[in-house]
Amino acid sequence: MIDPFGRAITYLRVSVTDRCDFRCVYCMAEDMAFLPKADVLTLEELDRLCSAFVHHGVRKLRLTGGEPLVRRNIMWLFRRLGRHLDSGDLDELTVTTNGSQLERYADELHACGVRRINVSIDTLDPDKFQAITRWGKLDKVMAGLDAADRAGLKVKINAVALKGVNDGEMSAMVAWCGQRGYDLTFIEVMPMGEIGGEIRLDQYLPLSMVRAELQKNWTLDEIDYQTGGPARYVRVKETGHRVGFITPMTHNFCESCNRVRLTCTGTLYMCLGQEDAADLRGPLRASEGDEALSRAIAEAIARKPKGHDFIIDRRRSRPAVSRHMSVTGG
Ligand code: 5AD
Ligand code: SF4
Repeated sequence: MIDPFGRAITYLRVSVTDRCDFRCVYCMAEDMAFLPKADVLTLEELDRLCSAFVHHGVRKLRLTGGEPLVRRNIMWLFRRLGRHLDSGDLDELTVTTNGSQLERYADELHACGVRRINVSIDTLDPDKFQAITRWGKLDKVMAGLDAADRAGLKVKINAVALKGVNDGEMSAMVAWCGQRGYDLTFIEVMPMGEIGGEIRLDQYLPLSMVRAELQKNWTLDEIDYQTGGPARYVRVKETGHRVGFITPMTHNFCESCNRVRLTCTGTLYMCLGQEDAADLRGPLRASEGDEALSRAIAEAIARKPKGHDFIIDRRRSRPAVSRHMSVTGG
């Protein structure tokens, strides 16, 4: 699949549920309303959709949420998708998780062919962790990380930079990731979804500040490491591990974009920062064969926009994109 700007679309991110067992302050309101079950694709339907994308040239699949590992019987989907790794049609099957269920699933993930996982941790302070996630327990996530290490899963940590919350801890996180052998990516908070109490402007911490802070303690060497995504990486000389910076609002990374995003209702977003989307559930459910679905996928890719358009409106502080991150999974 080649889009109108010559970019090969080889990476599909799939949100398998909009639900989560955490309520991170920048992501969800505490009293979130979730989708009715009938709207959500079954695991069989998700397998069919993902497999159609693999058939059309997708080489990397990432399951996200919400929290993907809270969906009932989710390991069935991992096992099914693992067959594309075995056949060589897929290079990588991976997951972005909050880590709460990892203790239970790490071994099984590895058995399904998963080799790398992203785990979201914004702070190493248990009280702050609870304050950010509202419902999360840091020790549970830490036990999950131990299980992931034992299972042989390579871990990358994602940390959202939050002004006045974790900005004093960035260097400590680099040290901790260095000790545990993890890469680390800092993410700028993005204007997505109404989350109640217009706090987003107060949360915004430009990563240039994070970088300046880190440079007081660490030697950050520029490296030429590209993933097709929005992160820019440096290597921390003292730990040997990578630190990435995802700055969607201050940088333009769209020219190398290789990805599209599917929601758990079968809506395909061609760009994280745009509202345009294609319904794939209709064609999926309309027939047992995949012809209509294939046509819908091709039409959608042909509409992939050149770039995004994030801005926090400083007067009204309304999100630029109204859907929550838990819909498209970041
Ligand atoms: N801005 C930035 N990152 C966010 N995430 C969720 N909501 C937002 C937001 N509004 C992050 C999670 C996780 C990743 C999938 O997306 O913390 O690390
Ligand atoms: Fe759940 Fe991730 Fe959203 Fe936090 S950021 S509420 S862990 S989906």
